Amino acid sequence: MASIAFLGAGNIAQAIMGGLSGDNHELYAYDPVPACRDAAAAIGATITENNKDAIEQADVVILCVKPNVVPDLLVEEAASLREKMTISVAAGITTQTMLSAIGDSAAVVRCMPNTPALVKAGMTALFATPGVSDSQRDLAQTILSAVGKTLWVTDENALDAVTAISGSGPAYFFLMMESMIAAAEAEGLDADTSRQLVIQTALGAANMAHSSDDEPAQLRINVTSPGGTTQAALETFESLGLPDIVRKAVNAARVRSEELSQS
Ligand SMILES: NC(=O)c1ccc[n+]([C@@H]2O[C@H](COP(=O)([O-])OP(=O)(O)OC[C@H]3O[C@@H](n4cnc5c(N)ncnc54)[C@H](OP(=O)(O)O)[C@@H]3O)[C@@H](O)[C@H]2O)c1
Repeated sequence: MASIAFLGAGNIAQAIMGGLSGDNHELYAYDPVPACRDAAAAIGATITENNKDAIEQADVVILCVKPNVVPDLLVEEAASLREKMTISVAAGITTQTMLSAIGDSAAVVRCMPNTPALVKAGMTALFATPGVSDSQRDLAQTILSAVGKTLWVTDENALDAVTAISGSGPAYFFLMMESMIAAAEAEGLDADTSRQLVIQTALGAANMAHSSDDEPAQLRINVTSPGGTTQAALETFESLGLPDIVRKAVNAARVRSEELSQS
């Protein structure tokens, strides 16, 4: 059991608190927005008067504020954070920025969750600074595992590529779904039928890829009969350059993530 403080109790904080609520942890939270405080209290968190009071109660502090709020928050709470493990979910805030404020040997974990965390199907990559002990590392992993899968990266720069894949990736799949729904309607299906067919197909394909020992490429080959309908569609995707489009889009997201980390 751990005492966990959430600084900021918005979307991602509520998702993580919700995931942890059945486990035997003590949750504390502060947020200036009454609706967020009420939501956190409903999940079972103790609401404090300010961030400092939340930090004092906790072994681990999770920064769940927007990235632009983090620098001031770190300056205000640096002394209280020094003795704790601090986990940041804020996009683009480097551990160097955090260690500069809190102290070079502080225990800091930077992670990048994604929006499916809101339905406990998230993917979170984590990076730990040398000040993080093995037990703190396990605790950070346990906390983020409450909203989905986790993995560790040993090079912080990899988080830019992670952001371009799993961070922004849900939107790529949503775009594919949107495009398929529009295509279904263009072929004469009504909107509700189109939506049902596309979303269940996306879910089924993701479940197959998740549960199978085969790579996605093999699963694609398995469902593509020579001369059939699937082959006709896949040849069209290929000839119009879909793999290259995906490669360029992911690269653009990775470059933008680097720019945001440096700004
Ligand atoms: N949502 C996701 O799926 C997701 C995924 C990956 C990473 N993240 C990261 O998670 C962080 C939070 O995102 P979110 O979507 O949860 O944002 P959010 O819903 O806006 O929640 C942030 C909350 O923090 C409050 N806040 C502002 N200043 C504060 C302070 N000094 N102390 C305590 N709370 C304060 C905000 O209040 P005000 O509205 O009044 O400012 C807001 O209620 C961001 O850094 C984002 O990069 C989110």
